[in-house]
Amino acid sequence: MDFLQSYAAFFEEKLQNLNFPEKPETLYEPQRYILRNGGKRIRPALTLISCGLCGSDTERAMPAALAVELLHNFTLIHDDIMDQADSRRGEPSIHKKWDIATAILAGDSMFTYSMLQLQNLPGEIDHKRVSYIFLNSVNTVCEGQALDMEFENRSDVTVGEYHQMIGGKTGALISAAMQMGGLCGGASEEQLHKLSVIGESLGLAFQIQDDWLDVVADPEAFGKRKAGDIYEGKKTFLMLTALERCTRDEREMVLGWMKAKPLSSNQVDEVISLFETYGVITDTRNHFLNAYSRAEKELEQFGESNFKQDLQQLIKFLKNRES
Ligand code: IPE
Ligand code: IPE
Ligand code: MG
Ligand code: MG
Ligand code: MG
Repeated sequence: MDFLQSYAAFFEEKLQNLNFPEKPETLYEPQRYILRNGGKRIRPALTLISCGLCGSDTERAMPAALAVELLHNFTLIHDDIMDQADSRRGEPSIHKKWDIATAILAGDSMFTYSMLQLQNLPGEIDHKRVSYIFLNSVNTVCEGQALDMEFENRSDVTVGEYHQMIGGKTGALISAAMQMGGLCGGASEEQLHKLSVIGESLGLAFQIQDDWLDVVADPEAFGKRKAGDIYEGKKTFLMLTALERCTRDEREMVLGWMKAKPLSSNQVDEVISLFETYGVITDTRNHFLNAYSRAEKELEQFGESNFKQDLQQLIKFLKNRES
């Protein structure tokens, strides 16, 4: 992903120079820890590229890019508590390395710090509007996360409801990242709308692919426990598709296991073989590739530029990602 290196290097330097205070150590060390442990930095790259796409120097969007990545990392800290996920980016998640109370507070502090970044936007940018898009997306992420948890206790979740849930937990921030970048770049209303549509498609594609990677990825590369979603009884795209396609008996059996979660490793193996039997793994891949294609099609409407090419390459990279 050579082309991304220029954005990544530019961004990473600013991120690593944020200079968290040394003390209290239990507040700041977890934040330094999660930011040092890697991450693809997709969302800030989208913010910077969107700024360029709308005609301005990408530097103008740097505070927005930092806000978006910090917010994303905050959501991961709390998400791992909610999902009882013990590893993140190949390392123990914060509530495992420290404890739940420490992870909650470190997340809260990181959320605040993400909002503070927007104070550094250049004066000529519409701060109020950038903040509105940002904060509104945070609340939509919370709505998506609430639905994600509610779905764990329901046996009648539809694929339509699933799309609404992931549009919130994942799509909202990706779309906001692009709109915030666009606003920093002086986007017209029409450009802004296009960016939000591209972001929504990318968000759906990205989350369905994340569900798919949960089953197929090499856990070393993915940095998360293999089949963690199945163990936790998550209503992923794969699970909902399998439940739609399997026999009544199989459905009752799997729903029973999910009620008594976490599943055992034998039950998880059986679920994965159901996914295989019903062609769920292949069809899920096609489904997220189609969502990426929709984003690519929307992007066609932007005039030719290096930034457009960068975004095309970023989407290509995302389609083939293994982590
Ligand atoms: C993980 O996001 C959470 C989801 C929305 C699926 P990323 O896959 O972008 O996580 P990092 O930042 O690269 O670790
Ligand atoms: C991610 O959903 C959504 C947010 C973090 C807001 P997941 O729970 O699927 O993300 P991972 O798989 O833990 O990264
Ligand atoms: Mg999770
Ligand atoms: Mg989650
Ligand atoms: Mg996931």
